Amino acid sequence: MRLANKVAMVTGAGSGIGKGIAIRFAEEGADVVIADVNLEGAQATAREVEVLGRKSLAIKTDVASSASVEQMIRATVDKFGKVDILVNNAGIFIQKPLQETTEEDWDRIININLKGVFLCTKAAVSHMLKQGKGKIINIASIAGEVGYLNSSAYCASKGGVIALTKELALELASKKINVNAIGPGAIETTMTKDMLANPEVKEALLRTIPYGRIGQPGDIANAALYLASDESDYVNGATLFVDGGWLTQ
Ligand SMILES: NC(=O)c1ccc[n+]([C@@H]2O[C@H](COP(=O)([O-])OP(=O)(O)OC[C@H]3O[C@@H](n4cnc5c(N)ncnc54)[C@H](O)[C@@H]3O)[C@@H](O)[C@H]2O)c1
Repeated sequence: MRLANKVAMVTGAGSGIGKGIAIRFAEEGADVVIADVNLEGAQATAREVEVLGRKSLAIKTDVASSASVEQMIRATVDKFGKVDILVNNAGIFIQKPLQETTEEDWDRIININLKGVFLCTKAAVSHMLKQGKGKIINIASIAGEVGYLNSSAYCASKGGVIALTKELALELASKKINVNAIGPGAIETTMTKDMLANPEVKEALLRTIPYGRIGQPGDIANAALYLASDESDYVNGATLFVDGGWLTQ
């Protein structure tokens, strides 16, 4: 059990990658807080965590709202007394050319994907500092490292997450709080469902993945498990790309 007696908080864990991470962490002994704007999704994940014999807390949270994030942290500490691991996973994707991207689209993406990481991290770190240890894992994207067509706001948000990860790692390393990121490639989730349902788009995507298959939430969950465990104590500020080799080209 690589996460025995740990309390992990995973945002956006009502579906996809976050759900995969919550379940993988529970398999390794963690109790898991599942924070999502979609309460029903969060509750479904919580039931799966409990089937594995771990405790869970499903809480409706909007990561872009400081009041909502404060409430999430309060509920976590009330129930579990601490927070050892935070996975900043909640995110949205809007694909539009620059000229069709509205100011509202831009603000929404940046507020959820980037400001949300800042708000959740700030709130969790206030408890991790008292505990003298912590692990923060930010879900970025290959689109934070290279351009992904017609997604200016998304690319900016994920590039911001990678830069923020480095700064937070620097600021918190001496407090024994590790901050790292994961950069997923194309992963089969609700976010990519429509894209992957189109055979031509799927074929085109597969041609860009040297490993020859679309990624699964479990691929990301295994990387998150390493970054959440004591095995990665000397890893800080890194972005681990889990992309089937996409970025090698
Ligand atoms: N699927 C991919 O190919 C892929 C690739 C690279 C990066 N990512 C990143 O992985 C993360 C998870 O994406 P996914 O593919 O699992 O998508 P998903 O849509 O399946 O899951 C995202 C979850 O986040 C929740 N969410 C959305 N806005 C929220 C908010 N304001 N507050 C709290 N929760 C909110 C949604 O309700 C949903 O449950 C995202 O940050 C995404 O950008 C995904």
